Amino acid sequence: MSSELVTCTVEDGIAWVWFSRPEKRNAMSPALNRKMVEVFDEIEFRDDVSVMVLGGEGTAWSAGMDLKEYFRETEAQGLGGVRKSQRESYGWFRRLRWFQKPTIAMVNGWCFGGAWGPLFACDLAICADEAKFGLSEINWGILPGGGVTKVAVDLLPMRDAMWLTLTGDLIDGKQAAAMRLVNESVPADRLKARTREVAEMLLQKNPVALKFAKDAVRRVSTMTYDEAEDYLVRMQEAANFHDKTEGRKEGIRQFIDEKSYKPGLGAYDLSKQKG
Ligand code: ACO
Repeated sequence: MSSELVTCTVEDGIAWVWFSRPEKRNAMSPALNRKMVEVFDEIEFRDDVSVMVLGGEGTAWSAGMDLKEYFRETEAQGLGGVRKSQRESYGWFRRLRWFQKPTIAMVNGWCFGGAWGPLFACDLAICADEAKFGLSEINWGILPGGGVTKVAVDLLPMRDAMWLTLTGDLIDGKQAAAMRLVNESVPADRLKARTREVAEMLLQKNPVALKFAKDAVRRVSTMTYDEAEDYLVRMQEAANFHDKTEGRKEGIRQFIDEKSYKPGLGAYDLSKQKG
């Protein structure tokens, strides 16, 4: 049975991208990794896509790297095969970290090992209470590689990162939210509706500001205060240049002159801006 590996539909400004290999619990094979890049190429700069959601078909979000096709079969091809498959997987995780549009991981079920790479790469993460997260690497005799240990340490307190790394223990959605591995956990039957609500909230915001803001959150984490301050001044100036709608001025105008909204309580009306 051949599956589609990755599927995508675009609806009301939201691209719903799915790991679509449910019979293999959405394990990431080299073919799936290549297909993900093709889908990104199709949607990333489309004018009718403002937010991207990454979900999983079936019982898994993703069971991590495909132990047969990603590890065993590429290792059989020698170092060149291993490096190629690493470039392909790390490549789309990196692409996702810096994706042009805001991204939301919608985690429905199993999320193991390598799947923490795209989980971290998505800007926000919402999961089902029933989802299960684990660093199962230790259970089959490796360390969480390919960036996964870095993801665990960046997202979790050290004791939690160490516990999950050394024990391979599973945590459910509520525990993942309590540890801040995800933003929120909701009952499975609310997962898509809640994700849509969050996506719709992002659709209200200035898209240039969203891209610069999400990149800034990732970039400043490795900078000194002075470097970050300088970077943020330059990035705001760059955002002003890229925003042909002059959204910043419009946001001030609607508040100060028109008195039609309050920035403390919500976003200005994008439909009134020029461009
Ligand atoms: N790599 C390759 N094949 C996989 C993977 C995987 N990561 N996960 C599931 N599959 C395959 C199974 O081999 C099985 O194939 P088959 O139908 O041809 O026998 C099919 O998917 C269904 O898997 P089951 O184990 O039967 O599904 P079940 O729902 O009972 O269990 C679970 C799901 C818990 C996710 C289990 O499949 C599992 O433990 N998978 C491995 C998880 C894992 O440790 N991933 C690697 C993390 S480390 C890393 O990514 C670097």
